[in-house]
Amino acid sequence: MFSRMGGEGAAEQLPPTHPVRILMEEHDQLLGFLDEIESAATAARKSTAGLEPGGTLRVSLHGLALRLLDAEPHHQREEQALFPRMERVGIEGPPHMMRMEHEMLRASKRALAEQMKSDDAADEAFVARLCRTASDLVGMLRAHIQKENQILYPMALEALPPEEWSEIAADCEKIGPCSFSNWR
Ligand SMILES: [Fe+2]
Ligand SMILES: [Fe+2]
Repeated sequence: MFSRMGGEGAAEQLPPTHPVRILMEEHDQLLGFLDEIESAATAARKSTAGLEPGGTLRVSLHGLALRLLDAEPHHQREEQALFPRMERVGIEGPPHMMRMEHEMLRASKRALAEQMKSDDAADEAFVARLCRTASDLVGMLRAHIQKENQILYPMALEALPPEEWSEIAADCEKIGPCSFSNWR
């Protein structure tokens, strides 16, 4: 009953406990964090108020970077529970590309967290670096989410039989939620 559900609106048709539904709901939350990072970077471009070490904007950006880093269980569910089963039925390209993007995303999130945690003064170079990292991260993660929602997940839903989804769900359960997830 979980198969052949690709395309637009597929997530709403899935049971709330379906692994793909959970992943897509987490994507929505991640997109919300990205909107916040984008607004903070826009504010930083106009004024460095709150960007000094310990400043409110800097602390809030650090928190957002940490929340994005907390998406690790989400990536692990994809990398360990979902992708290997897609690869077993011959879908190899898209999971390979998503794994590489996860690596780039991890580096970018760490860069943002480390810059916000540093004691560096909020000078012009600091703001320029922040804006560059924020724009790379926001662009990359938005595109990644779109590819998974619109291409990779529909492919998986189409290719994998129902019994396979029960095993994926069990593996996901073992890996567990992210700190910001709403399931469980
Ligand atoms: Fe992913
Ligand atoms: Fe994802």
